[in-house]
Formats: sequence, structure tokens, C-alpha cells
Amino acid sequence: MKIGILTGGGDCPGLNPAIRGAFMKAMDHGDELFGVMDGWKGMINVNTRQLTLSDVEEIIGKGGTILGTSRTNPFKNDENDVPMVLENMKKFDALIAIGGEDTLGVASKLYKQYGTRVVGVPKTMDNDLSCTDYTFGFDTAVTVAVDALERLRDTGRSHRRIMVLEVMGRHAGWVALFTGIAGGADWILLPEIEPDIEKMCEHLRVIKQRKNYGIVVVSEGTKFAEIEGEQEVDAFGHVILKEKGIGEYTAKIIEEKTGIETRVAVIGHIQRGGAPTLFDRMLGTRVGVKAVELIHEGKFGQMACLVGNEITSAPLEAATSILKTVEQDWWKLAQTMFK
Ligand code: F6P
Repeated sequence: MKIGILTGGGDCPGLNPAIRGAFMKAMDHGDELFGVMDGWKGMINVNTRQLTLSDVEEIIGKGGTILGTSRTNPFKNDENDVPMVLENMKKFDALIAIGGEDTLGVASKLYKQYGTRVVGVPKTMDNDLSCTDYTFGFDTAVTVAVDALERLRDTGRSHRRIMVLEVMGRHAGWVALFTGIAGGADWILLPEIEPDIEKMCEHLRVIKQRKNYGIVVVSEGTKFAEIEGEQEVDAFGHVILKEKGIGEYTAKIIEEKTGIETRVAVIGHIQRGGAPTLFDRMLGTRVGVKAVELIHEGKFGQMACLVGNEITSAPLEAATSILKTVEQDWWKLAQTMFK
């Protein structure tokens, strides 16, 4: 078989292990694997090349994606782009799309509307895809963010300050939640939970009295009524959150309301770089292998996923139609840790 493979949306550690996993399994079947460059853009511009063992054999520990990526959405301009994608699909017997809700949302539509022989592999540091317990990229991003938090703790403690750490995650608070709990933050702000500024500031005053410094983790997607409004959006209609300055705003209101000197750190894309953790290497490898198995089983329109410790599959549509966001039980756990 001739199989195409692409990576779309924001990059994250684990993409290269997934490409490598797919290649190794394809090799066992005698398939040829073709890298489609820069996500869906490469399916529109016909930018592909056959991968070899030497392309992939040493990439398991590398961050980013050897295929490049983009946020191109062929359905945004479907009169021209979707026909190009369909035409280019004729070069392959099947396509593996590795991505988050946007990239896999495109795959889902292509399968549903045109019967395209596509399977999905879930990736995103945001961990917000349904039908899978975790996506690769998340574990590495949180590991980086916890390291940043520990560093902020040292300087915050020395200066007797409140340190605010803004993390990514878009509309889901998983990165902030796990960073805050695993790093022992004193407060966490999430997109899913309406911020209770008064309660947070009261708690920070208590914290300051007891240990003389404090740590707050804020998700970039946290919604403060005061600064909501018209925002710039990307090709998939998502607000570009880096423009919102959520961390800055959080630090400003904390300082104003508590009178405690406060500083902010926004770690941004640092969370998306570097070597994948053990967890992300294993998960990437397993779901990459599974994608090729799905193709050989004729299970198009499906996405490889992790349920418990099993790699299984679920319809792309189910995985992408509803975002997996943080529920109350997780927030209760977080609050238990605020003392
Ligand atoms: O979806 C992954 C993500 O890292 C989000 O957490 C973040 O809001 C967004 O991508 C940033 O996108 P870009 O790399 O295009 O600035």
C-alpha cells in the first residue's frame, strides 16, 4: 500500500515517535509511507516525499515534527482546496492524519462527506480530544511547566512575592490543572471555572502570612468578564489567546487587591518544545503503530486512542465533535490542595 502521513496544528513532543511508529508498522506490511509536508497545506500544494528508515530511525527523542505543520484548513476555502486534497488523495491508498480537534476535524469531514480513506492519530498538548484518556504532548508540556513553576517558587520565595505562571491549553484547563496540582500551586485558574477573584485573593493573603510567597497557575483560556470581547481568530475560528494577556491581567488584579508584589511568567511555546517524555514516546509509538493497523483492517474514519492502558479506536467524529474539558471533580481535587 501507499500511505500518506501528515501532522497538522500546533506541534508537540510525541509527533516524531508517532511517525516512526507508523513507519515501522508499515514496513512490516511492505507498505510505502509518504510524508505530506506542513499538514493539510501539503495535501493542497502536493508537497510529499517518500520516507525511508534513515529518516525515522533516530527521531524518537526529538521534539517537533520532521514533516512540518500548519494550521491550514481546506474547508475554509473548500471550493478550491477540498478538490485539491481529494485529487492528491489519489496518490495514496490511505492517509494518516496526526492532529488535534482541527486537523482531525478536517479528516472526519473528508471521511464523512467524501468517503476519504483516512485514519487519525490524536496529538495535542491541550489534552482536549474526546475518546482518548490522554494525547501525547500533554505529559511533556506539563513536565516543562512544572519545572518552570519550581523555578518561580525559588525566586518568589526569595523576594516574598506572588508569582503567576501562565500556561497554554486553549479552551481546556488540563495543562494548568495538572501543572498546579503537580507543582503544589496555591491557586489555579481554569477556562472551565469562573474565576472567584475575591476568594483567590483572600487565600493569597493567608498564604502570604504563613509562608511569605505564593504561586498561581493560570490557563491562557481563563475567562475574565472584564477583558472578554472581540478577539482575532485563526483559520479554524479559535481566538488567538496569546494576545489576551491573561497572565498579566491576573498579576495586575492580584497586586491591586492584595497589595502584595506580584510578577508573571508566560512560558508559551517553550511548553511545546524539547524531547518527549517517556510517556509521550510510548504513547506516540503505540498510536502511530495502531494507525497502520486500522488501515489494514479497513477501519477508515477512526482514530487510534488510549483507554486505560489499551490502545483501541473510536470514530473521528466522536473524538472531535465535543471537547474534553475539566470537570468539577478535578476542580474539587485542586481546591483540596489549597491550604
Ligand atoms: O493547541 C495547542 C496550542 O499550543 C494551544 O495551547 C495554544 O493556544 C495554541 O496552540 C498556540 O498556537 P500557535 O502555535 O499557533 O501560536
